[in-house]
Amino acid sequence: MVETAEFERWLREIRKLTGRPRLSDQTAASMRGLTKLVRDTDPRVIVELGTGYGLSLRTFLAASDVQVVSVDRSHGGFRASLRVLPLSDQEKARLALLEANVFKIEQVPWYPWERVLLYVDVHGDDLMRHIIEHFVETLPAGSVVCVDDLWYSEQCLTEETAPQFYESVIKPLLDPKAKKARTRLRHYADYWHGGSFYGFAEVHPLMEWVNERRVWVQLVGIQGWAKQIWFEV
Ligand SMILES: C[S@@+](CC[C@H](N)C(=O)[O-])C[C@H]1O[C@@H](n2cnc3c(N)ncnc32)[C@H](O)[C@@H]1O
Repeated sequence: MVETAEFERWLREIRKLTGRPRLSDQTAASMRGLTKLVRDTDPRVIVELGTGYGLSLRTFLAASDVQVVSVDRSHGGFRASLRVLPLSDQEKARLALLEANVFKIEQVPWYPWERVLLYVDVHGDDLMRHIIEHFVETLPAGSVVCVDDLWYSEQCLTEETAPQFYESVIKPLLDPKAKKARTRLRHYADYWHGGSFYGFAEVHPLMEWVNERRVWVQLVGIQGWAKQIWFEV
């Protein structure tokens, strides 16, 4: 089992490679959370939308021995990361990289009888609408969806309280160089069971779908620190 020290090493290597002093993609805590999610839900295949430099991807490979399919419109960053964080032959054999725009994928990368863990780490409201319609709603029963970059507030957020929530909970976690992400992280939506979720624009269609179906959403990790949610379909 991969330990926190190994996650920290991955983060150090990717920070050096990218020149980003603080990388917001994952933390050692979020990678521990993903490891636990994989162990608890025991999927037959893991499908990731958004490979990036491969931090979540490496976590999934280390946490299980199932096939991992990882989609990105460009795997240039991930290929560069292999120079500093190579995969073992056994990990390479279980990995399928799909270089494609999520909007253009016509066939879902799983069989109808497999329980899937679908990990969504791409952003945008149109993209989330597309993912819900073409991926989430076609998942085999018992599959799990995990969405990155969503923070929970027990209090329903308002125009007044949302900026405070951003300043105190989210801003300290962000990479100061990721200016685009910082300006796009300004959205929130209420959750049917209470409170609100804060994140990128995809929070609106996602919560609309969740609220309509009364989907029970759980946090990956500890409340206040958690930056991912998951639910079963
Ligand atoms: C936040 S990064 C992923 C981080 C990664 N999961 C990790 O934990 O290290 C998001 C990635 O999604 C990719 N992406 C964004 N929009 C996409 C789209 N429409 N289709 C495919 N990939 C997309 C970007 O190229 C980027 O590499």
